[in-house]
Amino acid sequence: MPLTVVDHPVARHLLTRLRNQETEPYDFRALAEQLAGVLALEASRSLPTQDITVRTPLEETSGERIAVGISAVAVLRAGLGMLDAIARMFPDVTVGTIGLERDEQTAEPRGYYSKLPDLHSRVTMLLDPMLATGGTACYALRLLRDSGAERMQMLCAVAAPEGVERVLRDFPEVEIFTAALDRGLDEKRFIRPGLGDFGDRLFGTT
Ligand code: URA
Repeated sequence: MPLTVVDHPVARHLLTRLRNQETEPYDFRALAEQLAGVLALEASRSLPTQDITVRTPLEETSGERIAVGISAVAVLRAGLGMLDAIARMFPDVTVGTIGLERDEQTAEPRGYYSKLPDLHSRVTMLLDPMLATGGTACYALRLLRDSGAERMQMLCAVAAPEGVERVLRDFPEVEIFTAALDRGLDEKRFIRPGLGDFGDRLFGTT
């Protein structure tokens, strides 16, 4: 399942509110975090667990704990809006950040910053809410793979078919989780219908 469009009423409800141009940054931030939580829950569905025993106040019982380390890597700046939800869900998460800007000559992303934790033998969740052309995603995934990432997941609020196709062509092993697969890109490479510029709406810079 390289692409999962999360089929859940809560995801659709949250995304609809994010899409609404009337949603102010204060609410946008809260909604983005909640949606990231839903995406993370779906992405973590197939994580390995280990059987353990715990004692309730009444008796001993069997249970499970997640048996793999998780790293989250946020693509600056929009990915920051998803990070708190992941850190709350996985308190032991190790966190990386990647800064990318667009090369005006080639229209391709160019990295200006990256600080990554050790990614070996972990599940790495790439946080980038808008999968548009796939250029940024592929740059980031290459960086992660070159830095030792093994199992890579990408969490995004909205994806365009063009971006999904490019990512899965270059990284067929990546598991993409999104709340919506939208119609496509416009001439300015915005996702339609989309929700506008995620970073601007998150940080109130419109
Ligand atoms: N990034 C955004 O924030 N929005 C888009 O529609 C595409 C890329």
